[in-house]
Amino acid sequence: MAEHPDVAAIVLAAGDGKRLRSDLPKVLHRVAGRPLLGHVLDALTPLGLGQVVIVASTRKDEIAAAMSGADAEYVVQDPPRGTGDAVRVALAVLSDSIRHVIVLAGDTPLISTGTIASMLARHAETSSAATMLTARIDDPTGYGRVVRGADGRIERVVEQRDATPDELVIDEINTGAFVFELGGLAKVLPKLGSDNSQQEYYLTDSISLLLGEGDSVSSFETTSREADGVNSRAQLAQAGAELRRQACERWMDEGVTIVDPNSTFIDATVTIERDAVIQPFTFLEGNTTVGQGAEVGPQARIIDSSIAAGATVTFAVVRGSTIGEGASVGPFASLRPGTVLERGARAGTFVETKQTTIGEDSKANHLSYLGDATIGKGVNVGAGTITCNWDGTEKHETVIDDDAYIGSDTMLVAPTHIGKRAATGAGSVVRGDVPDDALAVGVPARIIEGKGNKMGKDRGTPSQDPRG
Ligand code: UD1
Ligand code: MG
Repeated sequence: MAEHPDVAAIVLAAGDGKRLRSDLPKVLHRVAGRPLLGHVLDALTPLGLGQVVIVASTRKDEIAAAMSGADAEYVVQDPPRGTGDAVRVALAVLSDSIRHVIVLAGDTPLISTGTIASMLARHAETSSAATMLTARIDDPTGYGRVVRGADGRIERVVEQRDATPDELVIDEINTGAFVFELGGLAKVLPKLGSDNSQQEYYLTDSISLLLGEGDSVSSFETTSREADGVNSRAQLAQAGAELRRQACERWMDEGVTIVDPNSTFIDATVTIERDAVIQPFTFLEGNTTVGQGAEVGPQARIIDSSIAAGATVTFAVVRGSTIGEGASVGPFASLRPGTVLERGARAGTFVETKQTTIGEDSKANHLSYLGDATIGKGVNVGAGTITCNWDGTEKHETVIDDDAYIGSDTMLVAPTHIGKRAATGAGSVVRGDVPDDALAVGVPARIIEGKGNKMGKDRGTPSQDPRG
């Protein structure tokens, strides 16, 4: 895509979003894995713009932290006195090389790169002072209406609250996206008034002001739902549904089988390789990748994890984990952050892991908790094995070397190191290290007075692990 070094984008994100009734700034509400503002910035990236300026409220730091990594600069609009005032604040930081500005609302997450590029092209072809992105929608309630004269030319934009009954029936709306020639915009912005129902400086009034100066205004109509602004929780849900629908369409086009797109929830941030199969009731969230031919679901929630080619994950919650080629997870497994399943490894039914590596072809097939453990290759972890990793104060590590055999119901009291080919007997309680090739057995448990109270509680106080 062509670069546009003389074009800047100004993204408006200073509104307080009253209609969402939230403590979070509106543009930070998340849909399909990203804040609203993140979707807008993402649409801009491929355009190679000279500058991107985000107009933020006094909560700029919060917004910048949530957007860390975005190649943009921030200006603060305090107080927010309308979209026209917001653009005026941003003009102050534009560099000398900028000739045109794209203005986008930070609450329109469905806007696409292609449409912005088309709007820029229309703006250049027509040498307009302003080019407005409009849309015709069935229910224009809440949007600014585009008022055209008998000859079809744009005359002005009127906000819902300021519109007459005749204007309210107009179904062509202002999407909130514009391209302006910078000189013309700078000329009319100081002339905006605030004599309207909200006592705000409306950017939309710059259209009639430019026309009044004899400048030309053009428009580009989008047919899709890109105009959808998020001003309420209902619209937030609708935008999320649309973005997830688009994600399913995109991955199916790329050769992924999605058995039931209606019950599959894929964030915009996820990538999936061909011939992967996504079964129903599956959530792929955050920074997640699914490899070629892997099968995920039914009923899986995968968050910030990578699932390699040919792996299977079914009825499981997997967070912050790496699942190797051909590895298998579930049914009914919970893999917590720091879990690594190497090639062909298995975490089966009712297995919970945390900060644990299960080596190549090693198996924990049933009913285990494995935390802070490093397990080598070809290890069998018997049903009911627990790494007792917490002594009430600190976490300790368990190391199990290659080809070890952990008998059913073994309690591995960490720190402990099980050697190569070592074995533990069913029901054993293992403390300390087990040498290579040795067998550890130990039943029944002995009672040692005065050695309890691991969590340092007063006597008689019931103790409970607060971390679950
Ligand atoms: C605005 C448009 C309307 C259009 C609609 C499209 C105006 C006056 N109205 O209405 O014609 O149909 O978007 O979605 O422009 N913002 C600031 N500073 C402010 C006020 C708003 O940065 O002082 C930001 C908001 O954070 C938001 C965007 O500008 O991202 C639009 O503001 P919002 O209050 O949502 O305007 P709408 O009523 O949706
Ligand atoms: Mg809005």
